[in-house]
Amino acid sequence: MISDVDGDSVVYLNGQFLKLADAKISVLDRGFIFGDGIYEVVPFYRGKPFRMAEHLARLQRSLASIGIDTGLDTNAWQNIVLELASKCQLPYFTVYLQVTRGPAKRDHAFPKAPQPTVFGMTSPFTPPTAKQRQAGLTAMSIPDIRWLRCEIKSISLLGNVLAKQQAVEAGVDEVLQFRDGYLTEGASCNVWIARNGVLAAPPLDNLILEGIRYRFLEELAAKAQIPFESRRISEDEVASADEIMLTSATKEVLPVVQFNGKPVGTGKPGPVYVALRDAYDQILS
Ligand code: PDD
Repeated sequence: MISDVDGDSVVYLNGQFLKLADAKISVLDRGFIFGDGIYEVVPFYRGKPFRMAEHLARLQRSLASIGIDTGLDTNAWQNIVLELASKCQLPYFTVYLQVTRGPAKRDHAFPKAPQPTVFGMTSPFTPPTAKQRQAGLTAMSIPDIRWLRCEIKSISLLGNVLAKQQAVEAGVDEVLQFRDGYLTEGASCNVWIARNGVLAAPPLDNLILEGIRYRFLEELAAKAQIPFESRRISEDEVASADEIMLTSATKEVLPVVQFNGKPVGTGKPGPVYVALRDAYDQILS
């Protein structure tokens, strides 16, 4: 068993709840062979899911977009997620779901009678600490080398993996990816900027994943009367932004205070971040 993983934790595999150590799939699974599958990450706070309906809707969208039919409807998905959650005692955790096109003879084309592999597990997650919120993160720019269907939450994450590794090797917390000079997203998060009190994020197209926190932050901004623009953002605009923020299930919303070695704005978390963070906390409390 992998050393820092609890083999006794309960996972879901193809209709059964069993111990992680007992969950086995074929080496011919198309997830393993081709990265042919979809995933989702639903955060739980004190036993309660956050925006589960939206996460499951995105899962169904992603599955439909690559032609995988699990036969599971939203209700069935919800039952799997809640059953897994009921077996997890942690205050904060995520439910990770993964569906692949299943085991088949190695052939790029879809198998004639696919039997999708459906897997779910819970994993601990630590919401951002007070220190991270106050100190903020560092980031650097890299070219976005990924494919042109980034709106699909695909398990083929090589581009994202290589991007994150660049951050690790450069000693920064995150990378901001740019395609043709325009901001796309982080290695595993959406990116926001604020200029003159106006919040902006790249448009929801095929170049980024529609984070569940994308719509959520949009709602929080509206409540806090912060104007929001969904539009193309050039690298120059990012470099001269007053504030930069990141969102994801596990990052929630965090400020970037240094970009490419230079301070962002004052070099401290700014007022737009603080307003959104406060609004976020209120919903979570
Ligand atoms: N990642 N963009 C990418 C490429 C992501 O991988 C993620 C999330 C997001 C933000 O989506 P959301 O707000 O729904 O978490 C944007 C998850 C957390 C992951 O891969 O673990």
